[in-house]
Amino acid sequence: MSENRYLTFALGKGRLANKTMDLLESIGITCEEMKDKDSRKLIFVNEEYKLKFFLAKGPDVPTYVEYGAADIGVVGKDTIMEENRNVYEVLDLGFGKCRMCVCGPAENAELLKHHERIRVASKYPGIARDYFHNKKYQTVDIIKLNGSVELGPIVGLSDVIVDIVETGSTLKENGLQILEEICPLSARVIVNPVSLQIENDRIKNIITKLREKLEEK
Ligand code: PRP
Repeated sequence: MSENRYLTFALGKGRLANKTMDLLESIGITCEEMKDKDSRKLIFVNEEYKLKFFLAKGPDVPTYVEYGAADIGVVGKDTIMEENRNVYEVLDLGFGKCRMCVCGPAENAELLKHHERIRVASKYPGIARDYFHNKKYQTVDIIKLNGSVELGPIVGLSDVIVDIVETGSTLKENGLQILEEICPLSARVIVNPVSLQIENDRIKNIITKLREKLEEK
């Protein structure tokens, strides 16, 4: 492919983006512009290496990558599973580690055990549906929330929640606990399938360097 084509990265905003930039910097890919914390700029360019970076809301990252607006994306496994886009997941970056779990008050473990028709609140309705319907063969009603999901069982909206657990302190402080574990999560690199063909050398080179760097740690 032409030397002049920019390789574009879409990064999920927030902690993940900062860690990703640190990692990229450690393999020699830097973007000075992005370090200005006060900037409201959304897209950053590294002219020397013909790279572009932009920050997007996490759930939008797989969308940009699927449509080829970004060649490479970095986002949590939770988002990749929920969005279910046509992208290749090529590398586990190992940071942002947490777990997707079914949580609720201890006594509601019984409802899960007996496959009762329960209400499940989640920011991840796709993951919740897939888990209950396809893995547990349990019919449940899924209620989509946009945050502070722990409220669900507390205020009587739902019996359980499907949510991310990192340290477990949010659950603990709200009298909830992990009832079932769905899967481990962490930050992943995703690639557009067409980009992987037309920019195979450049993308492979970056992924290999990242993998080697992670193995050193
Ligand atoms: C996430 C998640 C839990 C919490 C888990 O929420 O949805 O609420 O973090 O972390 P912990 O196990 O370390 O307590 P986030 O802070 O992203 O906000 P949200 O509830 O608005 O989604």
